[in-house]
Amino acid sequence: MSHIAPLPELDQEAPFYQPVANECALFEQAYQQRLPLLLKGPTGCGKTRFVSHMAAKLGRPLYTVSCHDDLTAADLTGRYLLQGGETRWVDGPLTRAVREGGICYLDEVVEARKDVTVVLHPLTDDRRLLPLERTGELLEAPDDFMLVVSYNPGYQHILKSLKPSTRQRFVAMSFDFPPPDIECGIVARESGLPHERCAALVNLATRLSELKGQDLEEGVSTRLLVYCATLIQAGMPILTAARATLVEPLTDDLDVQEGLMEAINATFG
Ligand SMILES: Nc1ncnc2c1ncn2[C@@H]1O[C@H](COP(=O)(O)OP(=O)(O)O)[C@@H](O)[C@H]1O
Ligand SMILES: [Mg+2]
Repeated sequence: MSHIAPLPELDQEAPFYQPVANECALFEQAYQQRLPLLLKGPTGCGKTRFVSHMAAKLGRPLYTVSCHDDLTAADLTGRYLLQGGETRWVDGPLTRAVREGGICYLDEVVEARKDVTVVLHPLTDDRRLLPLERTGELLEAPDDFMLVVSYNPGYQHILKSLKPSTRQRFVAMSFDFPPPDIECGIVARESGLPHERCAALVNLATRLSELKGQDLEEGVSTRLLVYCATLIQAGMPILTAARATLVEPLTDDLDVQEGLMEAINATFG
């Protein structure tokens, strides 16, 4: 049986997260049952916000690592560093989360080097072990340790997907951009721009995102809508804000940019 302390009351300090489905309950169950969690979804749809919200709600420290193609197992576990003429072992973020009973969140985990999965495997089976070869330690993860990983299935290529042997160690859920009414509430809350003005932006984003597939790799994210609304709320003219947040970040192709600006002008021009 687990010995997890009763959950603290909902933490008022937890960063705002608007649930879309049953994701909070699923996260909480995975945590209680000591199961690792995999989040899939496009960039800017709320994965990182969700994890920081849940970590605060569960009262656990959060160690977030943005993975990249140079990230090695040692970056996660730790290494000996020379400090003032002495070599000293310094824990990496994964090791710290294991020692403290925290949540370790590996963002874009498919980007990391292959040796990273070697570290994750013993942590994700029911032994929940983290072997530190260099120090000779074998850490057993406490009940309140949790591993969360995420990736964006949209821009993965064949060499960069999680192997089934890794993927099948996780409880998994898909994220996507929220339905318009919910997204509108999020954008209004995050930016302070009045609801009905946010609704117009969300509508516009839907129309722009329809170009996805033909001309755009990804649709307008909730993150970009928040940026746009924030700049407008700060006094920037709508067309300037829209170009800077809904056009330039989406594509470098001048023709596609022009197409997007036409749609924006048709709405706000
Ligand atoms: N469900 C949500 N609740 C609250 N804010 C959200 C939500 N979804 C998206 N956001 C907003 O969008 C921004 C980007 O979300 P983020 O979690 O960083 O995306 P991801 O990690 O999926 O790339 C957040 O900073 C927040 O302002
Ligand atoms: Mg993120």
